[in-house]
Amino acid sequence: MAPRAQLRDLASRFPGALRELETMAEAEIRARAAALRTAAERGGREPWMAWLAAYHLLLRLGGDGTSDDLAAGAPSALLAARAGVHAPGVGRRTEEAIRAIAAVFEAPRDDVARALLPRRRHRDPATRSTNASAEGKLAARMTSDRDTRTRILSASDVRSLLSMEKAVAAVERAFADHARGLAQMPAKVYLSLEQHAGDFRAMPSYVEGHDGAPPAAGVKWVNSHPDNPKRHGLPSVMGVYILSDPATALPLAVLDATVLTAARTGAAAAVASKHLAKPGARTIGFIGSGVQARYMLDAHRVIYGDALEVLAADIDPRAAESFASAWGGRVVSAEEAAGCDIVCASTPGRTRAVERAWVRPGTHINAMGADAPGKQELDAAILQQAIIVIDEHHQATHSGEINVPLSTGALREDQVFATLGEIIIGTKKPARSAQAITVFDSTGLAVQDVALARVLFEDAASRDLGTLVQLVSS
Ligand SMILES: NC(=O)c1ccc[n+]([C@@H]2O[C@H](COP(=O)([O-])OP(=O)(O)OC[C@H]3O[C@@H](n4cnc5c(N)ncnc54)[C@H](O)[C@@H]3O)[C@@H](O)[C@H]2O)c1
Repeated sequence: MAPRAQLRDLASRFPGALRELETMAEAEIRARAAALRTAAERGGREPWMAWLAAYHLLLRLGGDGTSDDLAAGAPSALLAARAGVHAPGVGRRTEEAIRAIAAVFEAPRDDVARALLPRRRHRDPATRSTNASAEGKLAARMTSDRDTRTRILSASDVRSLLSMEKAVAAVERAFADHARGLAQMPAKVYLSLEQHAGDFRAMPSYVEGHDGAPPAAGVKWVNSHPDNPKRHGLPSVMGVYILSDPATALPLAVLDATVLTAARTGAAAAVASKHLAKPGARTIGFIGSGVQARYMLDAHRVIYGDALEVLAADIDPRAAESFASAWGGRVVSAEEAAGCDIVCASTPGRTRAVERAWVRPGTHINAMGADAPGKQELDAAILQQAIIVIDEHHQATHSGEINVPLSTGALREDQVFATLGEIIIGTKKPARSAQAITVFDSTGLAVQDVALARVLFEDAASRDLGTLVQLVSS
């Protein structure tokens, strides 16, 4: 990349790094700086950026770091200025930082200033007063000029940003973070509207930042209206996500959460199969071949490539046919689909969709459809004999696949083996025999949403995708 393009790129990446730095603990900053410097020394894809980030991180701590290339203290002043910290002398040190960075990257000083500072802040030093009060004013102006606009990302923006590889990685990490206590996730709030044959849910959550990802907070407003496709020509599930800066509370992005929900749901199923299905699984069956099923298949392809034979079943044959012709696979009966090594159920969960007699020993089932009280897709006899892994205790017992058998006494809570997060981080290990059936009971966690929304937002900001709107007054 040419220096100018590099600097433009840098400017677009800065906001996320700054938000993260504001809330990061010192030990974490040091660890991250060390990792970045190692990456730079190994000649990563953008080593100069890694170096720069490492300097910023170290210098913010007041350490000497290795400051041969950049003037000591200057980048931290720039960082402070851009983070909106009123530090004395910040203006002068910002100029030093600009000149130092320009020297390192052999770029014209004005290009650096333009790239690092928003246009209105870029001024020639000759015209700027150097006295302390002017510097204070400059720092204040920098603070007030902080970009407070919100990035609006439509469904097509989200689709173009979405990478199933990233979704799977983000969701796996979200489950692990939750199991390690690095997330906050109040219980989902349900608004049940029987008169409209549907419900709404509000799903807030926060995940801490670490290993290169900034902390993130947000809330999803999402519904489940199973009759929507037939009655209104709309998807059963639609949603909107608000991603906020945990440090300042600014709404960073408002994005379509319909695709986000399907992607993170598909990713969760694939992550569960990765950790629970028998090694060498060769067939995957879908019972319910709607929207979630498509994303589940996509996500499984991230883990298994094209190694899985795909069988699709649906109570509505047209749905199975359209799934198979668009995404690959063969239309079969529900019984045949349930006989696969991996079974993904994503029906509305109002009628039993999978019988015990159809399921073979050694099968892993992703039970995705039951995500509200009273919903159930599997014959309770499957659960009685299976190793049950849930996504989260409160949600699963309240509204997951196990909620009905628990309420009827067909299942006891102590028959639940673990959460998926516990399996991922290794605190619980299923003693899996070749005969064992495993069931992942998914209700859908808010941490999955915030983790994926964070990735989408960071990618959108770096590609300048979406529409920036002054949504809230600042
Ligand atoms: N666990 C989660 O995280 C999560 C996330 C999103 C949606 N969901 C739930 O998943 C379910 C499916 O959502 P969707 O967006 O794919 O809906 P969808 O309407 O696109 O697809 C559901 C499909 O199931 C079929 N179906 C209905 N009853 C069936 C049965 N008995 N046997 C076989 N097929 C049957 C329907 O014909 C339809 O094609 C909903 O209940 C939704 O609430 C769960």
